[in-house]
Amino acid sequence: MGFIHKHEKLERNSVLLLICIILVVLVGGIVEIIPLFRKETVIEPVEGVRPYTPLELAGYNIYIREGCYVCHSQQIRYLRDEVTRYGHYSLAAESMYDHPFQWGSKRTGPDLARVGGKYSDAWHTAHMKHPQDVVPESIMPSYSFLAKNAAKVNDLDKHLKTLRLVGVPYTDEQVENAVNDAKVQAVGPDVADTDGLIERYGEKVNARDFDGNPNLVSEMDALIAYLQVLGTMVDFESAKDVEDGAQ
Ligand code: HEC
Repeated sequence: MGFIHKHEKLERNSVLLLICIILVVLVGGIVEIIPLFRKETVIEPVEGVRPYTPLELAGYNIYIREGCYVCHSQQIRYLRDEVTRYGHYSLAAESMYDHPFQWGSKRTGPDLARVGGKYSDAWHTAHMKHPQDVVPESIMPSYSFLAKNAAKVNDLDKHLKTLRLVGVPYTDEQVENAVNDAKVQAVGPDVADTDGLIERYGEKVNARDFDGNPNLVSEMDALIAYLQVLGTMVDFESAKDVEDGAQ
């Protein structure tokens, strides 16, 4: 009875009630929201996910500059039709090194979260230059100028350093070698020594001349290097536990 009477006080005094409501909501909010500021507590690390190589990062920057996200999402939802069409649903860890993430909110074109390895480099080059050559009904605009523009690689070490500030774990060695790693990745092992690149980013790194023009490290090279790695870092065949854990 005593408690009920105390509560009566609150119910009869709207200002006191308001203050108490704010206090309760504040405490609840702090408990729920503060932990989310530490991404380690919300994103389970998944084997295989690594920061982008410098060349892939240059491609990612071009992807943002050209506004590809306006027409393409990079987020496969759990829904059966999406998984059937695009592959395994996206994991949070797969975009943990994207700043900003490219989930997108509109699909004028298909989702690109797992487009890596789906087509050849030659297909991408042809498609980027003139989409209608390979998909006659396409409404995607042409990006042929990317093949003519030299990719800006000379400041990539600074990009890596900046990303390190927001938590992407680039090592000193990766920062120091960023410019050279980008050039090496765009020509491949036949022309340059890719050992250092592979040591720093792993065996699976695609290192080759992506756009078919060996004389120029072009923006096309960078963009295709980025597209070809999308969705390929996690090995879903041997990572069944990831799937089970996430459901
Ligand atoms: C105006 C909307 C629009 C913009 C902007 C756009 N695309 Fe597309 N894209 C499409 C459409 C529609 C398709 C499907 C038809 C086709 O394959 O061309 C497509 C297809 C693709 C595909 C093939 C996907 C698949 O699984 O078949 C890739 C890769 C792609 N776009 C990359 C890009 C990149 C990279 C950019 C930015 C440089 C870009 N797109 C900008 C509309 C767009």
